[in-house]
Amino acid sequence: MLSKELLLQAVKEYGTPLYVYDGDEVVQRYKELYDFIKWPKLKIHYAMKANYNFELLKLLNAQNASLDTVSPGDVMLALKAGFSTDRIIYTANNMTDAEVKMVYDMGVLMNIGSLSRLEKFGRDYPGSDVCLRFNPDVVDGAHAKIMTGGDLTKFGILLKDVDKVKAIVAKYNLNVIGLHEHTGSGLQHTESVLQSMRNLMAIATPENFPNLRFLDFGGGFKVPYQPDEERVDYVKMGNDITELFSAYCKKYGKELEMYFEPGKYIVAEAGYLLTEVNTIKVNNSRAIAGCNSGFPQLIRPIMYDAYHHIVNLSNPDGELNVYDICGNICETGDRFAEQREIPEIREGDVLAIENAGAYCYSMGGYYNLRPMPAEVLAVGGKLKLARKALSYEELIAQTMGV
Ligand SMILES: Cc1ncc(COP(=O)(O)O)c(C=O)c1O
Repeated sequence: MLSKELLLQAVKEYGTPLYVYDGDEVVQRYKELYDFIKWPKLKIHYAMKANYNFELLKLLNAQNASLDTVSPGDVMLALKAGFSTDRIIYTANNMTDAEVKMVYDMGVLMNIGSLSRLEKFGRDYPGSDVCLRFNPDVVDGAHAKIMTGGDLTKFGILLKDVDKVKAIVAKYNLNVIGLHEHTGSGLQHTESVLQSMRNLMAIATPENFPNLRFLDFGGGFKVPYQPDEERVDYVKMGNDITELFSAYCKKYGKELEMYFEPGKYIVAEAGYLLTEVNTIKVNNSRAIAGCNSGFPQLIRPIMYDAYHHIVNLSNPDGELNVYDICGNICETGDRFAEQREIPEIREGDVLAIENAGAYCYSMGGYYNLRPMPAEVLAVGGKLKLARKALSYEELIAQTMGV
């Protein structure tokens, strides 16, 4: 957790709005997953869609982490950060032929989630190694929009289609070296992780897939967003996972690698969006604190009704009041928090929006033509600019296509 003093120092040096990441926490979260899940052949593939800040990627590369990527852009950036192709897996959905060629030519393992793409992949790259994404048929996640299992979603091959998969694999002599599933983000029940594992393991038999090297059980590990929310007992969950996988490997007849690909778990808590309040108004019964950022810069509240804890860095001991904390975008839903109790907010106060490390900057955009904030990395108490903000001139030039 970064101190209030360090966050205010970052504001002094770089202004607002500003993203600040605690690099030490990112590394700690990554490493502790290896303490929780004690499988000798465990590989954590960080889901870089959560936050692809280049400096964060370099920190994780220094830990020899692996990556889950979802676009050619992800792969290209990962290579620039030093990740070797054998530590990258490609799990895009609705891929084009051109995209597949780009990624295949870079030497990255393809994870395919539809029979249609598998057929085309076999036709174009017969004899290749491949990983297959199955839909685990378990429904869980922090919000309907981030539940990826079950047949109401677009993700993965249905478990019951395993014979169709085998026919395509045989037709093109493909070498299935891995199977994958991802249940959802912010999984509410640890049992969902275990049930999805069981469902995938049920089809991951030597009869169906004799050359498996790994099973990849996706991401979704939950972190607390509410201040009073309990942290999941990952030690227990890790033990359950290892026990289950160990029994499976005995049956399969080989000690396979086990992959997980968390995004949120590694980066969510390490991030802060710092924004300055410039307008206080009272609309009848509602006090409104208006700040210099908005939902294109942190979309989770409007997109997923997500709760982000907000701290008034400038007046932490002020009298408690209730506010709608709103952004600067021309949309009614542009609120970081509704009817939130927080120490009195005055014009000029700096607010820290917490848990802003995952799916915040990376889901950002330029709606209303405002540049994304700069990003700063804190390591060992020292601040470093990790990505500068575009100037308005640069943003306009980019928008004009020049
Ligand atoms: C295939 C896949 N793997 C991993 C993740 C990471 O999920 P989380 O950030 O919740 O750990 C996602 C996120 O949506 C995903 O789609």
